[in-house]
Amino acid sequence: PFGILSRLREETPVRYDKVRNCWDVFGYDNVHRVLKDYALFSSVRGASAGTSMLYTDPPKHAQLRDLVNKAFTPREIQAFAPRIEAIAGDLLERARGGAMDIVHDFATPLPVIIIAEMLGAPQEDRERFKHWSDVLVESAADDSDEAFRAVLERRQLAIAELTDYFAALLEERAKQPREDLISLLLAAEIDGERLTPRELISFCILLLAAGNETTTNLITNGVRLLTERPELQRELRRQPEAVPDFVEETLRYYPPIVAVGRVAKEDTAIGDAAVKAGDQIIAWVGAANRDPAKFDDPESFVLGRKPNAHMSFGFGIHFCLGAPLARLEAKLALGALLARTGEIRALPDAELTPIPSSFVFGVKSHPVTLEAR
Ligand code: HEM
Repeated sequence: PFGILSRLREETPVRYDKVRNCWDVFGYDNVHRVLKDYALFSSVRGASAGTSMLYTDPPKHAQLRDLVNKAFTPREIQAFAPRIEAIAGDLLERARGGAMDIVHDFATPLPVIIIAEMLGAPQEDRERFKHWSDVLVESAADDSDEAFRAVLERRQLAIAELTDYFAALLEERAKQPREDLISLLLAAEIDGERLTPRELISFCILLLAAGNETTTNLITNGVRLLTERPELQRELRRQPEAVPDFVEETLRYYPPIVAVGRVAKEDTAIGDAAVKAGDQIIAWVGAANRDPAKFDDPESFVLGRKPNAHMSFGFGIHFCLGAPLARLEAKLALGALLARTGEIRALPDAELTPIPSSFVFGVKSHPVTLEAR
């Protein structure tokens, strides 16, 4: 989609989409402004408005975010590095034999298992989380209504099971707190009041939902770049310390989230466009990340690009809470993959099926062969 996005950015930097009834904003400066000016461009929209920090404005937004902020700082997150490495190693070990589906066998289970452990789920429940994660990313086998309904039913069942699972875990930790996110949330207060059981469970599910598919896609998009440009594999094996730079440029070049939404609170102008209060706005981070007004040679993948002020984690008060975790997971997962294998090749006949959403960039499966080291 990035070719089209770059063309739209050049031709119509701000445009009204009559079909979807919203403004599309493509240029770096305007996307930056929309994300920065939270008073003018509100995040309150959709079904989760007011309950999830993603869909709230100040002051409620900061109250919700402050409950968990300190658990997600780079310092706190670094403590999970050994677990992330162990799980990545384990998943690669299982795939011995030289072939794996990066999405299904590697990039999906890793973030689910980690966030489950951060929340406080015991390690024995790993397989169950892997099952739930499989179901949550599963897509219909074909285009038939039955296939869609079957997937929907399985997904609803998985969410119901997750809800029960977290309810039980919450009850346990309420009696006997530990050093985990669930205990932290149980003890948390907003204006002197504890969260209700419903709020607690939706918080857990938000953390699961916001972080999993995105991190899966970051890892998979990284592997995709490695198979598209094998010279990068050689370079990164020669200098593994460049993996964080590789992750950063992958974020800019193939962002897992391509666009974020806002609602205008007042009449305003964006570029030449007269936006009215109440209008929906789509800020196309994926187009801004390739704006030549901000990046030199934006259509090239430049390992070690500096500066690299991409907005793939958003910008401003809603800047991704999980960014340090996602960066660490991608660094360790890709590092482990490169260190343990010889050349990674996409199967020649592998038709990559994109995830069918224009706001997400990723594929449903990515089969590869792994040369032995
Ligand atoms: C917010 C992207 C991983 C939790 C955001 C936003 C973006 C984003 C673009 C801003 C949305 C907006 O402004 O409307 C990503 C990407 C990820 C990733 C690309 C992986 C590569 C994670 C992880 C977690 C997480 C691992 C948690 C475990 C959140 C939360 C918010 C958020 C809670 C809302 C923050 C707020 O509203 O203040 N993310 N995310 N994300 N992300 Fe992530």
